[in-house]
Amino acid sequence: MSEVQRSLGAYGPTRRRPHVVLRRMLDAVSADALPQDPVVRLEGRIAELLGKPRALFFPTGTMAQQVALRIHAERAGRRTFTAHPTNHLDLWEQRGYAVVHGLRFQPAGEPERMLTRGDLDRVKEPVAALLIELPQREIGGFLPDWAELTAQVGWARDRGVAVHLDGARLWESQPFYGRPHAEIAGLFDTVYVSLYKGLEGVRGAVLAGDDATIDHAEIWRQRLGGAIPDAWPLAVAALVGLDELLPRMAVFRDHAVAIAGALTAGGVVDVLPDPPHTPLFHIRLPMPAAAAEAAAKALVEEQGVHLFTRTRPESWPDRCRVELMVAENAMGFSPDEVAALFADVVRRAS
Ligand SMILES: Cc1ncc(COP(=O)(O)O)c(C=O)c1O
Repeated sequence: MSEVQRSLGAYGPTRRRPHVVLRRMLDAVSADALPQDPVVRLEGRIAELLGKPRALFFPTGTMAQQVALRIHAERAGRRTFTAHPTNHLDLWEQRGYAVVHGLRFQPAGEPERMLTRGDLDRVKEPVAALLIELPQREIGGFLPDWAELTAQVGWARDRGVAVHLDGARLWESQPFYGRPHAEIAGLFDTVYVSLYKGLEGVRGAVLAGDDATIDHAEIWRQRLGGAIPDAWPLAVAALVGLDELLPRMAVFRDHAVAIAGALTAGGVVDVLPDPPHTPLFHIRLPMPAAAAEAAAKALVEEQGVHLFTRTRPESWPDRCRVELMVAENAMGFSPDEVAALFADVVRRAS
């Protein structure tokens, strides 16, 4: 058997079965007179959810965030933004913020742990914006508690610095705070959310903020080639996600916590954070990355079970970590079954 029958890590059926997505999309657009309507509806719905005057569709979060930071920089007359060293812009975007937009990045804090208010107090260079990512994905999906989060925002407010939220996984973070999305988003001047991570859409992003900022963002979206007129299929897929998956985030988070509990009870692996803050968390395995990948491949071949795709390096060569995102697919795996599967992976290396 080499086909994947069941997948723990990949997102749910909407991702894996295009005909399911297309059927739902057909149902969702049949009442619309104009194909543009779903984009307008999506922007309105997200603006309302986030309590912002306006929200604007972008083809990618990469484009949306670079534009937001550029606007904050132009307004402040300073080109520098500060953020955790593992922020998406610096790590995964070929430094587009610098090459395309002439911005400078001043890291705050340490790559292995969460950003703190104390780290920000040590940033002495005047900056235009503070970027906060909720959760900090690269280190395992950690979230600061509410008091710490508001203290970080307070640092920026005291200095007249704009605050931008990388909310690629804001939907997944909300149950941790137990506050409405609008209350969390209300801390920030601009908020980016993703349409294809927890919402499992096709692709796409939305940037929300005040009228003047979003008017300005619309100009930059056009300059960068992001004003695509036929974005409605992406919007429809995201609207389906808002209806069906957004209400499930707390269930996914609780299942992540239960899976993490079973994993750590086995004593073979550990998890970060413990317990997880969001449906996304990391599992540390006492084996080299190549051995973990080989074991995962063997599980697909022998049992048709897919556990994880990418391993991440750890400081020690005989250790690695993998990321787990608990969504609809993972609901079909009991915590004990996941623990047994990971114990099997580890056994294969010994
Ligand atoms: C934390 C974070 N920010 C931003 C992005 C960029 O999103 P996009 O893929 O839509 O450009 C991602 C994508 O993985 C992300 O994980």
